[in-house]
Amino acid sequence: MTTTAAVPEFCLPGLVRNAVQSLATVVEHEPMAKGTWRMRLACPEIARQILPGQFFMIRMPGRSDPLLGRPFALYDVYGTEPEGIDFGYVVVGKMTSLFGSLKPGDRVELWGPLGNGFPAPPRGHLVIVAGGIGQTPFLAVIREALRRRTYGQPARSLQHVPDRITLCYGVRSREYLAGVDEFRNEGIDVRIATDDGSVGNHGFVTDLLKQLIAEPVPPAAVYCCGPEPMMHAVSKVTMAANVPCWLSLETPMACGFGACFSCVTKVRQDDGSWDYRRVCVEGPVFPASQIVFD
Ligand SMILES: Cc1cc2nc3c(=O)[nH]c(=O)nc-3n(C[C@H](O)[C@H](O)[C@H](O)COP(=O)(O)OP(=O)(O)OC[C@H]3O[C@@H](n4cnc5c(N)ncnc54)[C@H](O)[C@@H]3O)c2cc1C
Ligand code: FES
Repeated sequence: MTTTAAVPEFCLPGLVRNAVQSLATVVEHEPMAKGTWRMRLACPEIARQILPGQFFMIRMPGRSDPLLGRPFALYDVYGTEPEGIDFGYVVVGKMTSLFGSLKPGDRVELWGPLGNGFPAPPRGHLVIVAGGIGQTPFLAVIREALRRRTYGQPARSLQHVPDRITLCYGVRSREYLAGVDEFRNEGIDVRIATDDGSVGNHGFVTDLLKQLIAEPVPPAAVYCCGPEPMMHAVSKVTMAANVPCWLSLETPMACGFGACFSCVTKVRQDDGSWDYRRVCVEGPVFPASQIVFD
């Protein structure tokens, strides 16, 4: 059972039009890979609105430490209505360590959907580059692009179906690979790179991207999410090849709805100068050409 309440009025409602705050029940909590888990939450109000590439914030109810919520990307929705959401997480610190105690029937507080998503998929070859837990936004992106599922109410309509989708997925070693079978089951080409060569290509995920860019017909678009150095490298490779690229930034966030400015990133302006933008409301997805990496 879930309870919902509107996000408080001070939270710039124009920027978080459909967001609701919800107390959601944990339905499943399963391992995905080393230090990596998938949690299923019953939250129909958020599940019916959320779009691929959007995210939500989670807090542990009744705790003041950690006080602030943490952002997580939609992995996918479940159920026909749909009834709730799945997300994947890797244990890195306070909140994700506390998640370890959650079992079916427990409650978490969440608010969303938040942020924008990836742009409508192109007609040609869509290349997705993911590093580590950065693969999580892409299952829903792929399912929507291939018309396996619709998202949002009313369902958003897309113009094109990509001719081809390739996922280039880089991790430290094979035990960190998460959700590969689910991606392969969608019939897409999954190419893996590992730092230690334990599976797939021994080296950087950008090497796989360079091979695809060198093909006679280059990718129509690249979508990317992962550690910042990897996204910087992907940005350089795609800009040099003149291939449109979008990055989903994983900037730490405090509110998720535009009020605190804790999530700002430097974004290039049309006149060549840069200004700060809030990743939670103006992102997390930005054109790679706009991001100023320090
Ligand atoms: C839009 C968005 C979507 C995200 N989606 C996912 C997802 O689907 N799955 C997932 O596992 N993670 C995701 N993240 C990252 C996730 O929010 C952080 O891993 C989480 O906040 C860590 O919380 P914690 O309390 O466990 O760690 P903390 O105790 O807050 O921090 C532990 C350590 O990690 C560092 N850290 C915290 N957050 C980040 C960050 N975002 N980037 C780099 N370093 C960080 C801290 O500086 C600290 O060193 C996403 C982030 C954003 C902004
Ligand atoms: S997290 Fe508060 S403004 Fe972005």
